[in-house]
Amino acid sequence: MNRYSKLSIALHWLIALLIIAAFALGFYMTDLQFSLTKLKLFSWHKWIGVTVLALVAIRLINRLFQAAPAYPESMEKWEKVAAHSVHIALYFFMFAVPLSGYFYTYAAGFPVVYLGLFELPAPIAPDPLLKLQLKTLHEILTTGMLMLISLHIAAALKHHFIDKDGITNRMLPRALTKDTQ
Ligand code: HEM
Repeated sequence: MNRYSKLSIALHWLIALLIIAAFALGFYMTDLQFSLTKLKLFSWHKWIGVTVLALVAIRLINRLFQAAPAYPESMEKWEKVAAHSVHIALYFFMFAVPLSGYFYTYAAGFPVVYLGLFELPAPIAPDPLLKLQLKTLHEILTTGMLMLISLHIAAALKHHFIDKDGITNRMLPRALTKDTQ
């Protein structure tokens, strides 16, 4: 069975974990009363999101130079088109969601000091109207991303437990699969 490279697999799971953390923090922190803890959680949410953005850029460059393994013949043409379309849309959301959060933060007039170490470049000046629009955009995009990730996970589980065609194993570390090559 053709597999993704070790780098692709490592990036996939690292980014997946960071996205889960960003979602968990995002939903939790926004409902908190104003406090030092809330500010800290906002910072961690932003640092995790910016890390996702950087890792996704590396992942896209890697993906452009290294083609994904071909789908097995057992897959219908429409399934291949659907899978490919979902993957392209996932790349769109993995860029658009953190970018909208980043622009929102700067429109609100808050700098992002990455891991408390250095300030990231300001792409825009503070703007109260744009701030509200970007906040809404960040929320809409995260909802879209959540729906697409759910579809992606459902498809992976279907391939693994119903079709049993080994597709999901291509993105799992070899040690977790029964694949011999
Ligand atoms: C993978 C990356 C990211 C994900 C999955 C994500 C997800 C979320 C979610 C689910 C929320 C709650 C939205 C709601 O209340 O409905 C949120 C809020 C927020 N996010 Fe992100 N986010 C990401 C990246 C970023 C980045 C990079 C920044 C800024 C540098 C950022 C800044 C914010 C801020 C400031 C809020 C609070 C909005 C408010 O004022 O209520 N996010 N995010």
